[in-house]
Amino acid sequence: MSTTRIFATSLRSLRTNPILASSHHVISRGHRIINSPRSCAVLSSATLRPFSTTRIQRHGHITPPKPGEELYVTFIDKEDKEHRIAVSAGDNLLDIAQANDLEMEGACGGSCACSTCHVIVLDEEHYDKMPEPEDDENDMLDLAFGLTETSRLGCQVVMTKELDGLRVKLPSMTRNLQASDFTQK
Ligand code: FES
Repeated sequence: MSTTRIFATSLRSLRTNPILASSHHVISRGHRIINSPRSCAVLSSATLRPFSTTRIQRHGHITPPKPGEELYVTFIDKEDKEHRIAVSAGDNLLDIAQANDLEMEGACGGSCACSTCHVIVLDEEHYDKMPEPEDDENDMLDLAFGLTETSRLGCQVVMTKELDGLRVKLPSMTRNLQASDFTQK
């Protein structure tokens, strides 16, 4: 149940409860319920904070491409089997792989803190069209098994028109090391 709904339900029960509605009650720090002839009111509006929401991040969820706007990416799995997939601009390789049941672990959920989404870009032409990896990505790539000159982290590669026809190889192994493994305890 959403926070708004819980609050509305609580307020409704306060209004209809004869015991609670007959006197003043403090329901939380800074929020006092008063009894008025017909309804209760919440005081201290200055202390009320607006509800806010954050977009839910789901991995393995991609946007189906619109007809005529498909971009293509080919994954070559550990058994050298090719998987050519039609995708939309804006989806990243981790989400695409997971949505298509390809073996890409993505242990950190795409937050650039592991190397289990390591891919090897097969065409240098496509590799050169990708934005340079940030420092975080380079740090994690240093931990990747079988690092190559054209290695990238799948969660950091976002499909664009320029990358249409991209071909990436999944390495034979990944190493599940996370940044937290290297912090002092
Ligand atoms: S999923 Fe961990 S860095 Fe990409």
